[in-house]
Amino acid sequence: MSSAYFNSNKPANGRMSRLGVSFPFMIAPMVGLSHVAFRDLIRTYVPESLSPLLFTEMLSTLRLPYEDLHDLPGPLTSTGENYFVPQLLGNEENYIAESIERLLPFHPWGFDINMGCPASHQLKHNWGVRLLGDMDYAAKVVAFTKKHSPKPVSVKLRAATGHQIDLGYLLNFTSRMEEAGADWLTLHCRTQNQGHHGYAHWDIVSEVAKARTIPVVANGDVHTWEDALSLIKTFDVDGAMIARATTARPWILWQIAKKLGIQDKPTSRWESEPPWTPEEEGREYFRALLRFTCLLENYFGDSPFALKKLHFFVAQGSRWLLFGHPFFHLLKRCENLVQARDFINDYSELHPQPMGKIART
Ligand SMILES: Cc1cc2nc3c(=O)[nH]c(=O)nc-3n(C[C@H](O)[C@H](O)[C@H](O)COP(=O)(O)O)c2cc1C
Repeated sequence: MSSAYFNSNKPANGRMSRLGVSFPFMIAPMVGLSHVAFRDLIRTYVPESLSPLLFTEMLSTLRLPYEDLHDLPGPLTSTGENYFVPQLLGNEENYIAESIERLLPFHPWGFDINMGCPASHQLKHNWGVRLLGDMDYAAKVVAFTKKHSPKPVSVKLRAATGHQIDLGYLLNFTSRMEEAGADWLTLHCRTQNQGHHGYAHWDIVSEVAKARTIPVVANGDVHTWEDALSLIKTFDVDGAMIARATTARPWILWQIAKKLGIQDKPTSRWESEPPWTPEEEGREYFRALLRFTCLLENYFGDSPFALKKLHFFVAQGSRWLLFGHPFFHLLKRCENLVQARDFINDYSELHPQPMGKIART
């Protein structure tokens, strides 16, 4: 890693490298999005020398022990994929242990425990963000997950249950996770009540990173490579996890790498530069979508399931385009991936459009 600031003396910098992660920018778990075809799309844009961590969507440990993991409706992973992190949703030792055992043959890099999901149908199981409200039990979940996992174990949590951030509680909670054996933490710096909306409190994650000896990665409100780098440079956290912006900029890791002085390009590209200008990004968006339709077809066939995944991806990402709304509504009229591909091709030629700016909210 040639970047100057990774070699600086700031305490947080480089802590992820102790875990073997030299490029601490990663892609978040997102239900309906972080499937095998999406992770393949992201990898299309990753420089050859890098292996960033890519999370799966949250996986229920009540279901994992009984599912055919090779055929979920598509496969769980692509051939040789080994920098993925399955995210576990659960709170019972026997189910977590069995889930880990069933996932290990897929060679995950590590396991993550979900302590942030606010969905009401998940709360009744007392997992997700409920664990954030029960420090003692959450610590037990980390301890027994560690006991059964030969790989690093992380926790992804929110800044608070409810709507008010209590920094004292958060510092205590993260300290307990550290004592219980968590190898690192990701803090989505929004409260439970914020859901995915509004300002992410980067100042809070900065306080937590200072207090912990394990790495603390920030998540929330990262829209651009500038945002991701600013988290590390200005807020002194150990890494940045990007979520929804990757549905508009699946090349964001390439941009970050380039800004850090990493010169090699993704294997699948002949250009040595990622798209930078709004116009270049706008053009690349449609190319990425065309590639994504092929990947979806490859893993899931030209099925209603695959089409639904395409719609969801565009629903999340098109808000970054200047005219994404009409594009999404026209795309929804397509009845299969072949029609969608033709439509995307025609639309990108007739209505080229720049990538818009969404600032931190
Ligand atoms: C559609 C969708 C699905 C999500 N699914 C998960 C999930 O399975 N596990 C999880 O920990 N967070 C999940 N999240 C939260 C994201 O990982 C991330 O914390 C959140 O979107 C904030 O980051 P962002 O502002 O960069 O989008 C989901 C978010 C979205 C939009």
